[in-house]
Amino acid sequence: MAAIHKATILLLLLISSSLVHCNEHGLAQQTDFNEDGGEKDSIWFSNAAEMKDFAQLSWEYVHELQCWLWPEECEDIKREHADWSWNSIGWDSLNVLSDLYSRVTSFTDLTQGSVINNLTGLQWDLEQRMHGQHLAVKQIISSMKKFLQEDESKKSRVLSFHGWTGTGKNLAVRIIAENLYLNGLRNRCTKVFIPQLHFPHLSNMEAYKVQLEKQIREISSRCTQPLFVFDEADKLPAGLLEPLLPLLVDDHQAHSILIFLSGVGSSTINEVTLNFWRAGQHREVITLDDFDRPLKTAVDRHEDQLLPWHLLKEGLIDDFVPFLPLERSHVKMCARDVFIARGLPYTESSLERILQELVFVPKNERVFSAHGCKHVAQRIHFMKP
Ligand SMILES: *[C@@H]1O[C@H](CO)[C@@H](O)[C@H](O)[C@H]1NC(C)=O
Repeated sequence: MAAIHKATILLLLLISSSLVHCNEHGLAQQTDFNEDGGEKDSIWFSNAAEMKDFAQLSWEYVHELQCWLWPEECEDIKREHADWSWNSIGWDSLNVLSDLYSRVTSFTDLTQGSVINNLTGLQWDLEQRMHGQHLAVKQIISSMKKFLQEDESKKSRVLSFHGWTGTGKNLAVRIIAENLYLNGLRNRCTKVFIPQLHFPHLSNMEAYKVQLEKQIREISSRCTQPLFVFDEADKLPAGLLEPLLPLLVDDHQAHSILIFLSGVGSSTINEVTLNFWRAGQHREVITLDDFDRPLKTAVDRHEDQLLPWHLLKEGLIDDFVPFLPLERSHVKMCARDVFIARGLPYTESSLERILQELVFVPKNERVFSAHGCKHVAQRIHFMKP
């Protein structure tokens, strides 16, 4: 309910802002959205079909971002795209949307740019809200401490998060954002890039590079400590490294945090974790050293046309952060958190009921949740009392 509500409001704001724009300039007229003065002839809605596409696109865009911002309210709609008429709308409508979106969200962020850097809060939150991820918690805290306290060189910090879906990579990003920036990911110093939204068509690579460079420049100019997050980094082509370089080379101007999320190496992580389990050892005895080399090898074996491989080869990654597959007890804690966050009563049996609906692997032992804590919130949403 609330999720639909928020998304609708955002959608209405987006659409109405565009309509205002259309009224000002008339439909199908030249627009001046392209501040760089590049293509001056991009055409906005010239017919109803395009308007419909735009509405659909807006909806999906808002939905996707909403899942980042309010994940507990994110409903599991199918990730199938409508057949967007990219040729008629133009790829840059996404950038228009993203601009509008940041204008909408900036209403809630009047004190824009405020960096809070609460390390105590970061540590507390990671320890309370991340389940079964002792290594990620430890690595993130030490990395952020180095970045905020020791690193006098003002260099950027690059973290590479690895793990299966639902193991908490997104949650960790949100916790970092919430403790370093006022309003977390809604703060205008933070920016999440999602490949299917921001870089959907590889044929537009050159244009994406220009846009990315522009966005990085904009955010870096208004923030002393920007946070850039790249979701599904294993889908990003190597070409995107170029616009990132100003942040990555040792430049005293670029005091940013970059986080790359990917599934590269997750089978290695799962294997190692399973071996410890089979040997009857607690997962807490696993150390970062157990993953350091295997993760680097996994990235090294990954496609050399893609971004992670290049980040590794250029020695740009400061910290590899492994996210382990989650056991029943961890998923149970996720479910409990959702009940508590929603102010709903729960019992041991309601938690068990949620676990029963999830798939656990491998086939024989059924130790790890195949989708981690993903979908747990939705199941509670649809659960009969
Ligand atoms: C940092 O976070 C902790 C825990 O959330 C909170 O108690 C504390 O007030 C915060 N400190 C600042 C300076 O905001």
